Amino acid sequence: MGVVVASAPAKVILFGEHFVVYGEPAIVLAIDKRAYAKVEIRQDKRLFIHSQNLGVSAFFEDDDIKVEKGDLKEAKIKLEPIKCAVEKVLKKAGEKVGLNVEVHSTVPVAAGLGSSAAVASAVAAAVGAALNVEMSKEDVFRIAFEAEKIMHGTPSGVDPAISTFGGTMLFQLDTGFKPLEVKADIPLVIGNTGVERSTRVQVAKVRELRDKYPQIIEPMMRTAREIVLQAVEALRKGDLQTLGELMNINHALLYGLGVSDESLEWLINAARRAGALGAKLTGAGGGGCMIALASMERLEKVLEAVQRAGASAFIARKTDEGVKIESS
Ligand code: MEV
Repeated sequence: MGVVVASAPAKVILFGEHFVVYGEPAIVLAIDKRAYAKVEIRQDKRLFIHSQNLGVSAFFEDDDIKVEKGDLKEAKIKLEPIKCAVEKVLKKAGEKVGLNVEVHSTVPVAAGLGSSAAVASAVAAAVGAALNVEMSKEDVFRIAFEAEKIMHGTPSGVDPAISTFGGTMLFQLDTGFKPLEVKADIPLVIGNTGVERSTRVQVAKVRELRDKYPQIIEPMMRTAREIVLQAVEALRKGDLQTLGELMNINHALLYGLGVSDESLEWLINAARRAGALGAKLTGAGGGGCMIALASMERLEKVLEAVQRAGASAFIARKTDEGVKIESS
């Protein structure tokens, strides 16, 4: 087997981030930005991982690490989730072979678009194909989820699920994922504040607040659930007006949880002033990305407004394509 390339999509959470960690539902869609993993079998038993976006690479053999690019601490932390995904597939294959794994991504890193999950899904699928191991999407999801736990502490699993399966889905911890019926296009502008942040830190911050004020946070959780239920209905009908209003309410809850920041508020206000139907942060917050929903007629205007406010911004298209083998 020669070189295998696999890819997996990034995502935006339309509704329910953070609340999903505590068992509430979330609505998430895969977008047309992808992470790519290129894998080939080596002649020796070493594992070489290179991440273009993270700017680190290293050789691994048993417990040894030899860094090629970046410093040791950085390489260890940043490459660990990828290494974990590779090792899980090797274990499934029952083989000990050396591999070259190169990842690159068109998804901004640490920005709330699920870049790490997209990378982990693509890596799991590519290593599986390189080793000729039967890997169902369920297998890829489980392995990417394990990698995600190393990265984010107590993730809900929503990111690896959407990166693996693609489409638009309702995700809930106890019931898993369910594809959603979506009537209309969902014209979205994504604006990146450029402020990198850690999902782990934001999730921990919310946990602290929830522990301190359970009587206050609990009703917010119920409200978040109700928002998602009404949004499912609005998506089914293609009712963008309602979706926009629900996004604004959802953002207010996230603001209350303390996961918005000045850079997000700035872009969200710019989008709303330019006529967006609704706008909110997406993902873990604390920086990262915001999304704005607009009618087709106002979409370009909203995009320009978010860019003028200082963001690198783009129009997101949803994709049904989850993880896939690009070439082998
Ligand atoms: C991160 O994209 C979404 C969070 O809800 C964390 C998670 O669900 O794992 C903040």
